Formats: sequence, structure tokens, C-alpha cells
Amino acid sequence: MLIKLIFYVNKVEIISKYGYPVEEHFTITPDGYVLRLHRIPYGISFENTTTKGIAFLMHGLLSSSVDWILTGPNYGLGYVLADKGYDVWMGNARGNSQSRNHTTLNPNDNAKFWNFSWHEIGIYDLPTMIEYILLKTKQKNLIYIGHSQGNTAFYVMASMRPQYNSKIKVQLSLAPVAYMGHLKSPLIRFFVSLLRTEHKLFLDLFGAYELLANSGIFTVLATILCRDASITQILCTNIWFLLGGYSPHQINATMLPTLLAHTPAGGSIRQIVHFGQLVKSNDFRQYDFDFENIHKYKSFTPPRYDLQKITAPVYLIYSLNDALAAEVDVLRLCKSIGTSCKEKFIIADHTFNHLDFMYGIRVRELVYDKLLEFMALYK
Ligand SMILES: *[C@@H]1O[C@H](CO)[C@@H](O)[C@H](O)[C@H]1NC(C)=O
Ligand SMILES: *[C@@H]1O[C@H](CO)[C@@H](O)[C@H](O)[C@H]1NC(C)=O
Ligand SMILES: *[C@@H]1O[C@H](CO)[C@@H](O)[C@H](O)[C@H]1NC(C)=O
Ligand SMILES: *[C@@H]1O[C@H](CO)[C@@H](O)[C@H](O)[C@H]1NC(C)=O
Repeated sequence: MLIKLIFYVNKVEIISKYGYPVEEHFTITPDGYVLRLHRIPYGISFENTTTKGIAFLMHGLLSSSVDWILTGPNYGLGYVLADKGYDVWMGNARGNSQSRNHTTLNPNDNAKFWNFSWHEIGIYDLPTMIEYILLKTKQKNLIYIGHSQGNTAFYVMASMRPQYNSKIKVQLSLAPVAYMGHLKSPLIRFFVSLLRTEHKLFLDLFGAYELLANSGIFTVLATILCRDASITQILCTNIWFLLGGYSPHQINATMLPTLLAHTPAGGSIRQIVHFGQLVKSNDFRQYDFDFENIHKYKSFTPPRYDLQKITAPVYLIYSLNDALAAEVDVLRLCKSIGTSCKEKFIIADHTFNHLDFMYGIRVRELVYDKLLEFMALYK
């Protein structure tokens, strides 16, 4: 089992294992982060040289490009879209297991490396990856599909650097997170309650700002505790439900060791702290630096993200049992975006949770079929 997991860690091997073509690309942000991209240029069942265009997939918090293909053909969105004729590019945010590199900073001994939240992912990583993809493919625009934080960062980019809106044919938000005032996850609520105004101290406690990279020990634990026939597997499923919402019908417990070997894929403490700030403030705004706000923003509270600046069409695809993206918050997001918010689509299975968008057993019929329909509107 362990050998299998270690094998799984090599993304390129996972994809080519199923016979799909795969490419690995690197690009560097203006502030020096080396980002890794994975590409499936076409699928197995698609022998057509004219593609339907680019689908850019952006993972959520503590995830990576691996999550789009981990569940295998017919389940992993990366494969599904490639088989439907899309040129699939899967991004990686700074600091995750795939993009843990920098031109000058060392992630292992440099707190500066980890000094970012999804704000920086939005203003630096996304534009850099999008520019790179469009340059490589000689295309003018692409379809953007995000999960969770992959959407948060998109809203940041589209409002802070609005010139990028024209490069987005359509943005499809799976489990969109922006306003978080009504979030239900008990685990995250608890975490937020630990956040104090003196959060600097909190950050210091966590040392070098790196959070939950999947380490060898985590993989070993997940393998032992979560495997089939293990009495502790229920513990693993419960942690899963605590994070995403109780959803017993969608979970494939057999997959848990594999999933947990990749998730969490690492990130920065500040990403979580920034989300925590959204829960507390019930607003969608920039990072709260506390006493330094006045110096940084010339105001005591951080500025709001101006969602009205989003001009690319946005589709919000959400679920009623999402522990992180509550319906009230999603509806408010759509309202704030205004006329560019084209659709609010509720997943038919009302027990579908935040993580099921990536790993749910019935994700194909419940999510992807609709997604493909929306994509087809933007040829
Ligand atoms: C390729 O796909 C396009 C559009 O999907 C279609 O019009 C065309 O006939 C296809 N070509 C071949 C050789 O299958
Ligand atoms: C990190 O990025 C630098 C600059 O692109 C590159 O030379 C180096 O090989 C990379 N290191 C790893 C471990 O990928
Ligand atoms: C992190 O960045 C903020 C501004 O973005 C800066 O005020 C702070 O000093 C930085 N901290 C470190 C450890 O680099
Ligand atoms: C659950 O995952 C296992 C291992 O990947 C797979 O063999 C099985 O087909 C999956 N079951 C369902 C219902 O998707």
C-alpha cells in the first residue's frame, strides 16, 4: 500500500498510468515563486485535433493539481474534460506540494517564503499562470474552473487586476467561497475562535508559517488509520465530514488513504488566518494587518474587494450542505458581483458537501454534466 502511495505522489506518472498524455510546465511569478502546472492536452477518447479550447482548473485550500485527477478517469475532472475535447491545464498555488519553490527564498528555513495568503495567489499566481498558458497555446482566452479557494483567488484577481477579465471566457465556481459569515464547519468555527486581534502572536506560535504539508508521517498515518477493514476508518471519515459537511452517500472510504496522502497539500498559515478574518468580519476584504493597516492601506480596516469590477461571466455552483460555503453567503456573493453573475446552480443532492465537488462518488452526474452544459455556452 505504501509503495502504491509513494508511486501516486508523482503526478505525471498517475496521469500517464491511464494512458493520457501529460505535460509538466513551470512559470515564475514577479515575486519569485516557481509554480508548477500540469496539462492534459487531449483525452484518450478524443482523437480530434480541433480542441474546444482551454480549461484552466484551480484547486482549493491545501489542495493541488493532483486532486483533479486523483479519483481516476470518469471521476477526476481533469480526465473528464480532456475526454470531452478540452485542453486541460491544472494550476498550483505558491507553497503547495507542487509549487514549493522560489528563485531566492528557501521554503524550509525562510519565513518570508510563507508570508502570503490567497490575496497574493490572486494578484500574482493566477495572472502569471494565465499569461503563461495563453502564450504557450497562442490563445486569447480560457475557461476558468475553480474549487473553493480557487474561486476566492479568482475574485481577488478579477477585482484587483480587472484587465484579466477579458482573458476569461467564463468562470465556473464550484463551492464558491468569498463571504464567510455563515459558515457551518464546527472545526473551522473553533479555529476562528482562537483568532485574536493580536494574531501576530498566533502566527509566531506557528513558527515559519508553513501549514500542513503532507509529510511522510501523515501519509503513513493515513495509510494505517484510514484503510479498509481498519476500525479507525470511521475516525477518518468523521474528520472528513467535520471539514466538509456530513455526506455519507458521496464518500468512497476506500479512497481515503489515497486522498489523505495528497490532502493537505500544504500552504501558508496566513491563508487560513485570512479566511478566519472573513468569518469574523462577515465581509470580503483584504488581509487584516491590525496595527499595520493604517500604514499599508491608509485606513484602520482593510479595503473590500470590489466585486463589481468582475466583468467575466461567473457561474456559481453550490450545495446546501457545504460546511464552508453557506447558501446565504453564496447568494450575497452573486448580488455583489452584479450582472456578471450569470447563474446560481444548486446541486440536486442536498447532502452533497464541500469536498464532494472533488471526490464525491456521484460527482459526474451531479456536477460535471451541468458544468459541461455551461461550458458549451462559451465556445
Ligand atoms: C472535430 O470536432 C469538431 C467540433 O467538435 C467537428 O466539427 C469535426 O467534424 C471533428 N473532426 C473530426 C475529424 O472528427
Ligand atoms: C527551483 O526553481 C529554480 C529556479 O527556477 C530551479 O533552478 C530549481 O531547480 C528548482 N528546484 C526544485 C527542487 O525544483
Ligand atoms: C509579511 O508581509 C507584510 C506585508 O505584506 C510585511 O508587513 C511583513 O513584515 C512581512 N513579514 C515577514 C516575516 O516577511
Ligand atoms: C472507490 O474507490 C476504489 C479505489 O479507488 C475503487 O476501486 C472503487 O471503484 C470506488 N467505488 C466507487 C463506488 O466509486
